Amino acid sequence: IPVAPFVLTVFGATGDLACRKLLPALFRRDFAGQLPDAATIIGVARAAMSRDDFLAMVHAAITKYVPASETTGPELDRFLARISYMAADAEGETGWTEFAAALSAYAEHIHVHYLATAPHLFGPICERLGRYGLSKGDSRIVIEKPIGKDLESAIRLNQTVGMIFPEERVYRIDHYLGKETVQNLMALRFANALFEPLWNAAHIDHVQITVAESIGVEERGPYYDKSGALRDMVQNHLLQLLCLVAMEPPHSLEADAVRDEKLKILKSLERIDETNAAFVTVPGQYRAGACDGIAVPGYAEEITDRASSTETFVALKAAVANWRWTGVPFYLRTGKRLQQRSSEIVVTFRKVPHSIFNSNSGKAVQTRLVIRLQPDEGIKLWLMIKEPGPGGMRLQYVPLDMSFAEAFDVSVPDAYERLLMDVVRGDATLFMRRDEVEAAWRWIDPIRQAWSQMNEIPRPYVAGSWGPSAAIALIERDSRTWMEDAP
Ligand code: BG6
Repeated sequence: IPVAPFVLTVFGATGDLACRKLLPALFRRDFAGQLPDAATIIGVARAAMSRDDFLAMVHAAITKYVPASETTGPELDRFLARISYMAADAEGETGWTEFAAALSAYAEHIHVHYLATAPHLFGPICERLGRYGLSKGDSRIVIEKPIGKDLESAIRLNQTVGMIFPEERVYRIDHYLGKETVQNLMALRFANALFEPLWNAAHIDHVQITVAESIGVEERGPYYDKSGALRDMVQNHLLQLLCLVAMEPPHSLEADAVRDEKLKILKSLERIDETNAAFVTVPGQYRAGACDGIAVPGYAEEITDRASSTETFVALKAAVANWRWTGVPFYLRTGKRLQQRSSEIVVTFRKVPHSIFNSNSGKAVQTRLVIRLQPDEGIKLWLMIKEPGPGGMRLQYVPLDMSFAEAFDVSVPDAYERLLMDVVRGDATLFMRRDEVEAAWRWIDPIRQAWSQMNEIPRPYVAGSWGPSAAIALIERDSRTWMEDAP
């Protein structure tokens, strides 16, 4: 779908998100020939800086984060030519008149304001965009998590943004929704007749959603220590994945049709609070260990040696209380400094009602569908198959394996490439609506409150392991196991 001429302003243009994700993503879309000639990018940050200095920074970011095969030709210069820089103070008035004047030169363009700043600046920037007449017409605003730190702050932020921009022009990014395999989940479910009839409690035993990282908190300690894994990952990414697995088929791919269905799932999540949190949640925190063969410090040492009760891991058992899913546990797990970077959704089907194979023919296992998000995107359907040969009926568990890298000879685009172009196209399907964000907080807040009432200290786990033993016990109590390596 062609992209109309746009001017995209990146607030926080010298920050980590802009350099690591946004500018490389825009460059890659340009490299692919998708940006119209008239597309323009304005970097805005507080520091006074010449355009040349900013371009040097962008150049360095792109050569660092984009494969060299794409950055050595004339495309990089063409991209840099689209970019300018302006200084403005998010909490003061400096620079705003000049910024408004610069934008007025692009009256025919679509205006996109991307707030890649610290979240406490979202409100002040929005207010100024309103005050300087930059929220009118078809202009759009993009904000990214954390959208609040609890329900109350999320409502406040949504109200502030909502006073300036109507909901249909607010794009709340959850970059997991831009991942190819996540979108493929919808294709898998709704473009094939095979799965949907079986996609319910009568045929599915349980669902596991794991987002494991081997990295620690890196330079983000100050943010992370106030957030923790429940708010940083579960409130958004893991719940969004759960919604896409559990939602009813939307009547179309239109944004509100999909978001209405996701919202229903968030509202059907059974409450976890002080009455049951001890049985269905496990917070953890890493201690020193080794990841990818390298010795790494524990969380407290990594955030400057201060004892902390922030969880870097969480495992929980969620229940979706509706006709389709009652009785099917959704086990969610995410953490830093785990054994490997690996994110997948595993849907395990029920056992066959009666086995005609004797116990020597192989261990009876359940059909399992694995949707792998990273690092190697693909879909595997694990089935029982007869071992070839005349040696009798011996069964083996073998995957029908669809690796995206092998099936399609293209590199998988980064989530931000897709999402940025969707904003310009005005397609909000893969963005979170205000009520979804608030419903997610409404479910998360009582868990945090329960932890603090129960004085729940995160359970220690060794960096490089799969988390605390209590997380293993959480699922093994139900006679199930986490699928670290399928199967
Ligand atoms: C971010 C979290 O939203 O997602 C980070 O704030 C996390 O803590 C990151 O590392 C993971 O994203 P990805 O795309 O690398 O899986």
